[in-house]
Amino acid sequence: MDIWRKKSVEKLLAERKENKRGFVPTLGVADLTALGVGAVIGTGIFVLTGVAAAKYAGPGVVFSFILSGIAAGLAAMVYAELAAAIPSAGSAYTFSYVSLGEIIAWLVGWNLILEYLVAAGAVSIGWSSYVKDLLQSLGLTLPATYTTSPFEGGVINLPAVLIVLLITGLIITGTQHSATANKIIVAAKLAAIALFIVLGVQHINPANWRPLLPYGISGVFHGAAIVFFAYIGFDAVATASEEVKNPQKDLPRSIILTLIISTTLYVIVAGILTAMVKYTTLNTASPVTTALLRAGIPWASAVVSVGALAGLTSVLLVSMYGQSRIFFAMARDNLLPPVFDWLHPRLRTPVWDSLIIGLLVAAIGAFLPIGLVAELANIGTLTAFIAVSFGVIILRRTKPDLRRPFRLPLMPVIPVLTIISAAYLVINLPPLTWVRFAVWAGVGLLVYAIYGYKKSNLARGTETKLPTTAIPEAARKPLPPEDGED
Ligand code: ALA
Repeated sequence: MDIWRKKSVEKLLAERKENKRGFVPTLGVADLTALGVGAVIGTGIFVLTGVAAAKYAGPGVVFSFILSGIAAGLAAMVYAELAAAIPSAGSAYTFSYVSLGEIIAWLVGWNLILEYLVAAGAVSIGWSSYVKDLLQSLGLTLPATYTTSPFEGGVINLPAVLIVLLITGLIITGTQHSATANKIIVAAKLAAIALFIVLGVQHINPANWRPLLPYGISGVFHGAAIVFFAYIGFDAVATASEEVKNPQKDLPRSIILTLIISTTLYVIVAGILTAMVKYTTLNTASPVTTALLRAGIPWASAVVSVGALAGLTSVLLVSMYGQSRIFFAMARDNLLPPVFDWLHPRLRTPVWDSLIIGLLVAAIGAFLPIGLVAELANIGTLTAFIAVSFGVIILRRTKPDLRRPFRLPLMPVIPVLTIISAAYLVINLPPLTWVRFAVWAGVGLLVYAIYGYKKSNLARGTETKLPTTAIPEAARKPLPPEDGED
């Protein structure tokens, strides 16, 4: 049983160089960082900050953000080395395939499916409730029947479905369109956060920071496991790598830049928020706008909620985009059926992947409550971090000569610390998450046994196949030389 078979790094790199893979490289460092910030800053800051402060960490939520930021930052460096050395659409999935073997790669990919679907579903539900609030503040009340899931007494959550379908359309029409739309949205979201910071800082009352750690140090750690959701998404930058003009330089830069920007903003916003109002009053789905309302600035609350909507939209956009690229990479290796690696001849996007993902996310948004879906995303990401960290250590041994434009210093300190911190956060998640996760992994192993084990390219001795729609000869041009090459 050769479930440990590995893909060849050399073949992957050679194919990318000849540009036979099908995607057209259009993205630069600004697009990529916008993609990263677009994927990362969303529900974590606009929704979860309040719950984490009220229920877990109090004003100490600032430290929760710092702790999970450190875990995410360590992982980001590991991703940066691999993404620069092996720019492939599959991200953690492909890194695992070349370093740890097929079965682990399959499990990582299968987990990422869960992570992205579930995160996108949760964000669409959050989007719907922000829209509902905003419209209500304008005097328009949407009927609860069509804005809540059957679990909460409604029939269907229509706004969640609509935003998901709209974004699916955008992703299908092309990567460059999505990247441009994303940059505009990200600018709106950052402007909203800046407005909150400027106004909020004038309304702080240091007394609200006492007691600083009402739930003790353990509350800070539980808070860290919850707000970790806020950092999910920087790995989406790595899934774009086949569409990047100069991946070896731009990928590590954008991944690390994304992390620096988000951590800084999270810490500042969490600090101001808990100093503006007492943490006990923050148990709401819209803590940022609630705090502004209490400070007596309703216009700012309305403006910031528009920015929050923009923020949630970009998280949806990038997480659904990243998901389609992972499906694509898994199907290209024949671990999933061929329909998933079909690129539209003109649009150059994986249309079926995007459509199927859109429908699944819409179904989650339409019929499930947010609480049920949110926490599953963290465990999928944290386990991917652990697999990728083992991968980077193993690849240094098995492929010492691989060109690594970004090299981690002090090997293996950073990946080992990533493994320890990710495992620690997993332990701090609610135990029920573990059960759901084990069930999902069990189903994944079954699918692999029935399909991928027999059908995968490696099983049939063919290595990597080209996408079903090969790039037309006339449109194919060799990629420009990358740094350090002639
Ligand atoms: N990090 C993303 C968010 O906070 C998933 O919404």
